[in-house]
Amino acid sequence: MLEWCSTMRATEPVSYDERNGQWRIFRYADHLRVQNDYATFSSAPGAQENQESGRSILAMDPPRHRQLRSLVTSAFSARTIAGLAPRIEQLAVELVTSHLARGELDVVTDLAVPLPILVIADMLGFPRHNWAAVKKWSDSLVANFSEDEAEQDASTSDLAISMFETIARTIDARRRSPREDILSLLLAAEVDGKHLSDDDLYIFIVTLLVAGNITTTQLIGNAFLCFERYPEAWQQLRQDPTLVPSALEEVLRYLPPNRGTGGDRVIIGGRIATSDVLLGDQQIHKGDIVQVTTISANFDEEQFPDPLKFDIQRTPNRHLSFGHGIHFCLGAPLARLEAKIAIETMLRLIPEWRPGDQTAVQQIRNHVVFGTKSFPIQFERRL
Ligand code: HEM
Repeated sequence: MLEWCSTMRATEPVSYDERNGQWRIFRYADHLRVQNDYATFSSAPGAQENQESGRSILAMDPPRHRQLRSLVTSAFSARTIAGLAPRIEQLAVELVTSHLARGELDVVTDLAVPLPILVIADMLGFPRHNWAAVKKWSDSLVANFSEDEAEQDASTSDLAISMFETIARTIDARRRSPREDILSLLLAAEVDGKHLSDDDLYIFIVTLLVAGNITTTQLIGNAFLCFERYPEAWQQLRQDPTLVPSALEEVLRYLPPNRGTGGDRVIIGGRIATSDVLLGDQQIHKGDIVQVTTISANFDEEQFPDPLKFDIQRTPNRHLSFGHGIHFCLGAPLARLEAKIAIETMLRLIPEWRPGDQTAVQQIRNHVVFGTKSFPIQFERRL
């Protein structure tokens, strides 16, 4: 994949994919151009006819994008998120400690999956005991983009129905008695003098619940894929844990949790041209879909010297794994903090480990997310 991206950057940086009729862009500079110019490269397919209701902020353009996003920016600001650290630490320690006596732990299923779901459920004001259902449901949404047709079929509407029922019950409960959570904040919010419609509320909650868990799970899992491949990085972190944040930026660059393309059916992170425009030496027509390829931008030698080197002290490291421009990931401070705490907790509680049963490590084969479904490790039992 990396070799192919490198060839594409050199020979065909803006390329038309015949299979799905979409443009793919490979160079870092073109990513910035597309993501900065939201007037020409819209996130909102069909928005002109139906901009108003039932859309995720991911699929909106200004001015409505700005209005809706600003309702929750303070809840996701670096300052607010930093205040969650003690709670996240407590959760991470609980999740890891319960496995110390067994001498085995699956970094993905035992830590990286539950941690972000529990945190976002708390922030939203969503019942915590539902976390396993939220996971199943998020997986089923992502399965829509699976490369494996059997997995696509497993993406069921039953789960969606039960999830929507839970959301509806929670909304009702908060309407009666608001709390200090994002759901209450959204219920009280007004845009242009009007409360959000039920459709807007649902899709906002779904976006936050789903965007807030799978990607962060993959980041933590991908960090361990990197530490397995580059054990010296783990040893360096043991000696100097203050390097954890910059190591995570390198993991994000090296193995981005999002592939930056929505496959051939739906677009996520993709854009639609609102007018004819020249990109590189290619003529893009109004209505054409343009997909970014995050992994390619993150290895662009014009931006990253020695891009194949995994360097946990790389500076600067302006990878595009959280996107760029007005849609830059709202949850980036949260994802960074959760992953930092997860790695620090592992460094403290399980500084020495070896990979466990490798047959259990299953790569996710999906057009949208990149990562592993499990990462078992073994270590000295501690009673
Ligand atoms: C947007 C990646 C974690 C919520 C985005 C975008 C990317 C991204 C690439 C931009 C999409 C585009 O331009 O179309 C990631 C990665 C994560 C992560 C790699 C973890 C490592 C989170 C978390 C949340 C979150 C924890 C919290 C709830 C959102 C939201 C948007 C977004 C709401 C839409 C922002 C907008 O359209 O203005 N994310 N994300 N993400 N992310 Fe994340």
